[in-house]
Amino acid sequence: MCGIVAYIGHREAYPIVVKGLKRLEYRGYDSAGVALLNEKKEFLVYKKTGKVSDLEASVGTQDTHAHTGMGHTRWATHGAPNDLNAHPHLSQNGEFAIIHNGIIENYASLKKALIDRGHIFKSETDTEVLIHLIEEIAKNNEVTFEEAVRMSLTQVVGAYAIVILSKTNPNYLIGARKGSPMVIGVGEGEHFIASDATPIVEYTRNVIYLNDGELAIVDNQKLTVKTIDNTIKTPYIQELEINLESIEKGGFDHFMMKEIFEQPRSILDSYRGRIHVNEATITMAGIDAFEDKLKNIKRIIIVGCGTSWHAGLVGEYLFEDFARIPVEVEYASEFRYRNPIINEDDFVIAISQSGETADTLAALELAKSKGATIFGICNVVGSSIPRMTDAGAYTHAGPEIGVASTKAFTAQVTALTLMALSIAQKRGTISTVRLRELLTELETIPAKVEKTLESNDYIKTIAAQIKDTRNALYLGRGYGFPIALEGALKLKEISYIHAEGYPAAEMKHGPIALIDEEMPVVVIATQHSNYEKVISNIQEVRARKGKVIAIATKGDEHIKEQADHVIYIPECEEAMLPLLATIPLQLLSYHIAVMRECNVDQPRNLAKSVTVE
Ligand code: AGP
Ligand code: GLU
Repeated sequence: MCGIVAYIGHREAYPIVVKGLKRLEYRGYDSAGVALLNEKKEFLVYKKTGKVSDLEASVGTQDTHAHTGMGHTRWATHGAPNDLNAHPHLSQNGEFAIIHNGIIENYASLKKALIDRGHIFKSETDTEVLIHLIEEIAKNNEVTFEEAVRMSLTQVVGAYAIVILSKTNPNYLIGARKGSPMVIGVGEGEHFIASDATPIVEYTRNVIYLNDGELAIVDNQKLTVKTIDNTIKTPYIQELEINLESIEKGGFDHFMMKEIFEQPRSILDSYRGRIHVNEATITMAGIDAFEDKLKNIKRIIIVGCGTSWHAGLVGEYLFEDFARIPVEVEYASEFRYRNPIINEDDFVIAISQSGETADTLAALELAKSKGATIFGICNVVGSSIPRMTDAGAYTHAGPEIGVASTKAFTAQVTALTLMALSIAQKRGTISTVRLRELLTELETIPAKVEKTLESNDYIKTIAAQIKDTRNALYLGRGYGFPIALEGALKLKEISYIHAEGYPAAEMKHGPIALIDEEMPVVVIATQHSNYEKVISNIQEVRARKGKVIAIATKGDEHIKEQADHVIYIPECEEAMLPLLATIPLQLLSYHIAVMRECNVDQPRNLAKSVTVE
């Protein structure tokens, strides 16, 4: 969480930094701040609680002239979200300035030692401690700026991506990372540093992804990458694949809506080039490389958080249905602290849009240390998870900016579908005829998603009727169950309405007590294996006067008598249901949130990637 951006070069730094912060705002939006280092070797520091636009307004026409600068958009971990705790933070004597993404876990003991040496802190953040420590080390050891940074980082426990400026060394800045992402853009006579590539892409396509434990010393002409213990590394320059249009709203009011409507394309992109319908084959390099292991595999463990965990649940059904492999789906945060039984035969799949989620990364590290094969399903190219796994599959959904995950989820499910079918083929648990049928069906899904999106206006009318509810229930069975969970999460996170997803049959074991005439109940009731049973569950809700919103198969007239509202989706294979049934639930929560005047793209208290525990 939190976005950092820095610039050194021939242009004015402030507009670049502010524009970059706006692109990174999805990562945190408690407060924003900039530090500019001008030709008089002075820091111009501006900070403001709230959004980057609040910062811009408060800076107004004040002096921002500088060719070096950095900015931060915060997701508070230590200290309230206010002006004082906003980054950048200065050292005691004002020589150094820092922006930081992450947590300095041993900040309390460092702080105490610094207070004993006369340091006075202005903020409650862990970050300010680090910049005071750098000053203290520089002063006491009479070392260079760079050495002081390296020495201080050896004393730090925790996660960080930091950029540091020094007033008396205005010609360069230092970036460093451990556990939080950092990308360096290499331009002509200029360099950029950011948490992801979105602030960089319009200036240069050449980037370097800094590795954990590395720092970069960057001036306008050259950059040096070294480890914290001073070993020089050869930076590997990569070309960015994203383009500017993909990170802008493209005529939609919100990124979330744009991303919902992108799903016909993003689903297609996640299977494009990987399926060969006539031959009935699937090419997934990461899976093919482990063919022998997967043929005899005893168990798959899937780890993830939030929406990615929901995709994992869909994966469980897919792997069990087609490849006949037992699967365990684990919350990464629980798994890592549970002393889980993992062995070398296990295949551990991490699902993560960002590829940076701290809990998921830690769960993978644990699995790796026990000798398991680790595999990543990620969206952000070059992020930490793909760089630590044995193999993986990118989801190719393109940048997802809305904090609520939409297209990344359906792309994850598409990738899991391909993996399950590919492994099934290798293990001989699926016939060629059946595989071809399923691949043929998969190719129809983008058009069916398109069709489903046509219900948008109708869904908006339903949203208008239930927008004031305080609670909502989402029910589903089989493949519909993870969708119910995902629908409830979407509603909770963007509209702040309490919602629960439940297996439809479990409702009678407790949640049924919640149902009254005020309660909207969204039910996945498509004509698949549990249809009749779900209809009975709907009747149980109706008997208690709940309002039923059914997601049903096109052509099912019978269900109209059972439900207050029916949203139709095209007929599909049961295994592909999540790819379609999710769409109306995304739209429903979107419209409710807009009608409640919630900040759809940046819901309160949340951040797009949770890079702290
Ligand atoms: C999704 O809408 C959420 N904002 C959140 O649950 C998210 O899925 C979770 O934090 C995991 O993120 P990741 O996929 O980037 O690892
Ligand atoms: N731990 C720091 C703070 O609370 C940085 C948080 C962030 O990553 O935004 O200010």
